[in-house]
Amino acid sequence: MGEDKKVIFSGIQPSGAITIGNYFGALKNWTKLQDEYNCLFCVVDMHAITVRQNPAELRQQARDLLALYIAVGLDPKKNIMYYQSHVPQHAELAWILNCFTYMGELSRMTQFKEKSSKQGQNINAGLFTYPVLMAADILLYQTDLVPVGHDQKQHLELTRDIATRFNQTYGDVFKVPDPFIAKVGARIMSLQEPTSKMSKSDENPNNFISLLDDLNVIKNRIKRAVTDSEKEIIYTADKPGVKNLLDIYSCSTNKAIAEIMPGFEGKGYGDLKKAVADALIAEIEPIQKRFQDIRKDKAYLDDIIKTNTDTAKYLADKTLRKVKKKIGFPQ
Ligand code: TRP
Repeated sequence: MGEDKKVIFSGIQPSGAITIGNYFGALKNWTKLQDEYNCLFCVVDMHAITVRQNPAELRQQARDLLALYIAVGLDPKKNIMYYQSHVPQHAELAWILNCFTYMGELSRMTQFKEKSSKQGQNINAGLFTYPVLMAADILLYQTDLVPVGHDQKQHLELTRDIATRFNQTYGDVFKVPDPFIAKVGARIMSLQEPTSKMSKSDENPNNFISLLDDLNVIKNRIKRAVTDSEKEIIYTADKPGVKNLLDIYSCSTNKAIAEIMPGFEGKGYGDLKKAVADALIAEIEPIQKRFQDIRKDKAYLDDIIKTNTDTAKYLADKTLRKVKKKIGFPQ
């Protein structure tokens, strides 16, 4: 880690398939950060078990996600990419921070309120303290910036509050992180209900496209995507289906909306869908090829996991040792 660069931390849960929403909203943007910042990209498997997971699937999805990080272009020599569960300092710090977080604060978290109302069967304590584990992830590495989507902003605010509270008692132990707002990238919406965000846990598979989906499936999902009863291709919030397709096209071609619109003048929705499917496939196909190669090479992936975990542990332990000392745990 170069000393002069700012630290960025982010993570994705290995629960379910990684969608083009995750890709255009997070992963693709991360690849642009790797030269300018010291980045840690975590596979947050401990967060994933707040919902029941099939063990074999969880293990496979975690490994797939790590391989996908590399396949999209994140260099395992430049970035620290690892499994959260391999670095026990996350859980240790999370416990300590639990004691610096109020029930009232956690009760106000929108995501907890939403998930606990949906997940009536298994409202476990982990679901409630989830944001504290996230705070531990971030604060362990003296993170400056956290690229997060809209839905995680409240958790980042809480992280800042916890860090500030701890620092007020014990001195400057934690860096107070700021959100990182990406310059480009779009919020990709559900294909059938384009007013809600594309989600990998959606029950209707027609709503999302996974990065690893068969190319024909991708083509068909785009073909079936909801538009509207009009004809004109216009980029406006009043036409969420068309807008979403244009966003996917813009992200896939690395061109701004203003740049792509003239090409669609006088064209119909059928043309739009064909263009979107072609552009998306051109973007995804090479990622899928790289993914298959990486996933086959067991020794390569194992070596990356080991080296990166060691680095993460070393950095995390620096902060954790300081925290334990400040609190008064016996040395
Ligand atoms: N909670 C985040 C999500 O569901 C994932 C996450 C866990 C995360 N720890 C993090 C994101 C730390 C940024 C930083 O999207």
